[in-house]
Amino acid sequence: MDVVFIFEWLDASWLSDLARTSAGLFSMVQAVHILSMVMLCGMLILGDLRMLNVVLTGVPSDIIIRNTKKWIYIGLAGIILSGIYEASAIAMKLATNSFFWAKMAGLAMGIVFLLSIRSSIYARAPEVIGSNGPQSDAVDAWVVKLVAVTNLLIWFSVAANGRWIGFS
Ligand code: HEM
Repeated sequence: MDVVFIFEWLDASWLSDLARTSAGLFSMVQAVHILSMVMLCGMLILGDLRMLNVVLTGVPSDIIIRNTKKWIYIGLAGIILSGIYEASAIAMKLATNSFFWAKMAGLAMGIVFLLSIRSSIYARAPEVIGSNGPQSDAVDAWVVKLVAVTNLLIWFSVAANGRWIGFS
């Protein structure tokens, strides 16, 4: 499917005019993009490293996963909105930029993985104790660890491709 028309539309929009003419605002939005990434990836890394038994091993994993959820969504909202603003300034460059497309593919994969596999497997991690005692449907610890490593790799690729757009 040819999606170039979306980039042409963005390139001709008032958002693009604003992004190109207001350097101060653009720098602030760049800062929001990076801070949102820190929030999003920080919360993801916390949950994943907990599942790998690296950090906060004294805290039950379900408490960490439950408490980071809201901040993951806030980080995602911030990074997507600021990303669209940044993209409007260089829309025609991005339309044919392979690192941008690799980043978008990684982002789509990361969101689907987060909402489906990561959340359902983490809810069935062996050490999660439900109100009725130990879970009967707990998955093997190595499955949880595989999910943690996969999630870390997906989001690392998104961040690395994001940075690489600037070099290309
Ligand atoms: C719809 C979502 C997103 C869009 C449209 C978007 C778009 C952009 C654009 C246009 C740039 C500037 C590229 C340049 O000229 O240097 C950028 C930079 C960057 N993005 Fe995103 N982005 C999105 C999501 C994300 C996510 C989810 C991450 C990380 C998890 C991320 C990480 C980065 C990084 C690390 C940079 C480089 C920042 C810098 O060097 O100043 N982005 N993004």
